[in-house]
Amino acid sequence: VVLVVDFGAQYAQLIARRVREARVYSEIVPSTMPVAEMLAKNPKAIILSGGPSSVYAENAPRLDREIFEAGVPVFGMCYGFQLMATTLGGTVDNTGAREYGRTPLHVSKAGSTLFEGTPVEQSVWMSHGDACSAAPEGFSVTASTDVVPVAAFEDDEKKLYGVQYHPEVLHSTHGQQILEHFLYRGAGIEPSWTTGNVIEEQVAAIRAQVGDKRAICGLSGGVDSAVAAALVQKAIGSQLTCVYVDHGLMRKNETEQVEKDFVAATGANLKVVDAQERFLTALAGVSDPETKRKIIGREFIRVFEQAQLEILQEEGPEVAFLVQGTLYPDIVESGGGTGTANIKSHHNVGGLPEDLEFELVEPLRQLFKDEVRMVGQELGLPEEIVQRQPFPGPGLGIRIVGEVTKERLDLLREADAIAREELTAAGLDREIWQCPVVLLADVRSVGVQGDGRTYGHPIVLRPVSSEDAMTADWSRLPYDVLAKISTRITNEVADVNRVVLDVTSKPPGTIEWE
Ligand code: XMP
Repeated sequence: VVLVVDFGAQYAQLIARRVREARVYSEIVPSTMPVAEMLAKNPKAIILSGGPSSVYAENAPRLDREIFEAGVPVFGMCYGFQLMATTLGGTVDNTGAREYGRTPLHVSKAGSTLFEGTPVEQSVWMSHGDACSAAPEGFSVTASTDVVPVAAFEDDEKKLYGVQYHPEVLHSTHGQQILEHFLYRGAGIEPSWTTGNVIEEQVAAIRAQVGDKRAICGLSGGVDSAVAAALVQKAIGSQLTCVYVDHGLMRKNETEQVEKDFVAATGANLKVVDAQERFLTALAGVSDPETKRKIIGREFIRVFEQAQLEILQEEGPEVAFLVQGTLYPDIVESGGGTGTANIKSHHNVGGLPEDLEFELVEPLRQLFKDEVRMVGQELGLPEEIVQRQPFPGPGLGIRIVGEVTKERLDLLREADAIAREELTAAGLDREIWQCPVVLLADVRSVGVQGDGRTYGHPIVLRPVSSEDAMTADWSRLPYDVLAKISTRITNEVADVNRVVLDVTSKPPGTIEWE
């Protein structure tokens, strides 16, 4: 394992992903972890991430000097670089020489371990206030910038390396190459980590955990639960029962995809609970968004609990495990990558019933989203499931502004299917993050169709681009694609006589309308 020491501010996750892209397994640890504990994990190499602090700030995170003396190769980036410099006797000062953004780097030692084979002039991404003016003893300076005399250094004998910039971001043009040089040349690690290994490893771990007992997995139609279920299915076959709650708020063909394609690809036992009536009844007369969300959440838990009870009654106390599609970022964000403290409440399908004692199986807890997709692909899941864009748990229930009825759901399903079909046909699926299609059920406007006046509802298109859904921008879709979607929806969907485009970023708007 390669440890990425997290000094805060999101850099560590990106570094851990880049290391894995280099086919080397990586894990994130918090900078507060004692160095002895880090070394006890027997890391093949350690990377120190960037972070928001100045090394001179009073409560700046530090590391015991031992980390540089244990014979484990270390690579410091940005804050990690400055920490390495100051800890080992180099000089970092607050020169006022700030650099932010794309910066030209001058490589002064082209044959160095990190820089060999890369251009002497390259563009890198900087973000710092303090600057290193003298490298520690024994180190040679390998690069500089116009304002920073020591922008990279290395002590090849002790296997210690550092760069002032962020090689993990794409703006650093040779960043990945430099990271790979550290891993392969500096630390002598063989690139051998693949999704195939992950599957083998997880299958063995799941078998060891579950033994001859039985497990339940809730399928939501999303990527994570589908891949988790497929992985557990591969490990324990018919000892797994999958449960899918059909709340009637899914988009066109999504339930069929789970019922047919998922089962065809995995051979899983699937229990589909048809709860459409129940949800419609519970939602009747309700148009307040938060109330709708609460009702859908509550009903979902009840139906899922009921299904679990039935399975327990049918199969007996052998059912001891609940499978969840928890991902690595959930673990890192809720427990700093070390413990499993807050995780249960953070991420579980519909909440664990209190009186049912299940042990969790979380086969994706080491993986990032894109790795989950690769595992899913390798397990033979259909593209439509593996590449699915995010879709909210409450489904179309929160995309009808107004009361949710069967007729309105059917109408919205048609409009949404057309939009999705045209976006896919235009090759835009990867470019947009998601495109909610919203029915303004409480709004009517006058139109003319054929020879007559109409008085119908508007459909809103909400295509957005985003990295993490925390912020988003509206996608500038080509006009001809928008025109085609608009024409088709107004022609093919009864009661819709207008299509409008949402051009609001987030903030101030949210991605969904409710
Ligand atoms: P908002 O509307 O808050 O949405 O900008 C951010 C992202 O979260 C999705 N979303 C949900 N996902 N359960 C979910 O699993 C929910 O209740 C829920 N509400 C919103 C939304 O689609 C977007 O990707």
